[in-house]
Amino acid sequence: EMPTPVMAIESSCDDTACAIVTGDGRILADATLSQSGHVPFGGVVPEIAARAHLSALPALVRDTLEAAGLRARDLGAIAASCGPGLIGGLIVGADMGKGMALALDRPFIAVNHIEAHALTARLPGIAANGAPFPYLLLLVSGGHCQCIAVEGVGHYRRLGGTIDDAAGEAFDKVAKMLGLGWPGGPAVESLAREGDPGAVALPRPLMGRPGCDFSFSGLKTAVAQKLPAQVRTALTRQQAADLAASFQQAVSDIVIDRLGHALDMMPRPTTLVVAGGVAANGMLRARLRDFAAMHDLPFAAPPLRLCTDNAVMVAWAAIETMRARLALGLPIPDDIAMRP
Ligand code: KG4
Ligand code: ZN
Repeated sequence: EMPTPVMAIESSCDDTACAIVTGDGRILADATLSQSGHVPFGGVVPEIAARAHLSALPALVRDTLEAAGLRARDLGAIAASCGPGLIGGLIVGADMGKGMALALDRPFIAVNHIEAHALTARLPGIAANGAPFPYLLLLVSGGHCQCIAVEGVGHYRRLGGTIDDAAGEAFDKVAKMLGLGWPGGPAVESLAREGDPGAVALPRPLMGRPGCDFSFSGLKTAVAQKLPAQVRTALTRQQAADLAASFQQAVSDIVIDRLGHALDMMPRPTTLVVAGGVAANGMLRARLRDFAAMHDLPFAAPPLRLCTDNAVMVAWAAIETMRARLALGLPIPDDIAMRP
């Protein structure tokens, strides 16, 4: 029947990850290596990322098999993120997966990275109700900021998304302005704990407008304008904390407002699901939980390591894809898209 367990590879950005998951969602092994070569540049450098995936992946695949207590021939199928993302890294991961699939004579499942984030909440044990379709997904990471109606496997309706920066990108840029290093989200959040979220007046772009698109670049510019000419030396710790807290408050006000509009566009979701690295933000999570409660919606947030980029979500998306095809009586081709 379903060819399992599934080994999946994730290499679309700066995390090199490999995982093995059974058809019923048991995680047999899960490894993620975060690349450190980007730190001096204050952001992900595509060329560095691709080369780091290339050097790390073979050993990571071997270690993941060993951690699961399996041999390659025990695998039922191989999956990899095949887009969207940085093309160099995607080619490294997809080709490794295709090579393994070819050698083992197993199906290769090409997974869309966003789809993998979107389906994570359906892994057993995450959502109290199992996140039945249709649900409303807020995806907020360094690369994405979108509201998606998840109506079924392969059925996604994008309700709105950012017209400029992603939410995580805004956190990272504000962190840079405040001299907090990269990645900036966690640093901004911890500094914000010492600040007053009402201290600095900041704009909330698109708030109150119809639809659920997002915009963060005006907010970022407004933060920059609050900084004195000689950054951080001229700013007291309290001032920096107030700025961080006010920024975080503005971001969460925007997100909550946009989600209100998303609900108008998708009247009956079973669940509100949040995913992506920014979903690690404690303040945002609390606001989302309140928002869901106010609308009588069950709320599901994957644990942090499954919110940020990982290979478990890629394996799970492959499993959901295969299950949906089998349910329709469709074959699982070995080339479910040799696309990208
Ligand atoms: O999902 P992710 O690991 O990678 C992708 O972009 O796909 O998300 C990383 C982003 C970064 O921009 C990081 O600054 C942000 O998530 N982030 C946070 C927090 N932790 C990570 N933003 C706000 N608060 C946090 N606690
Ligand atoms: Zn991602």
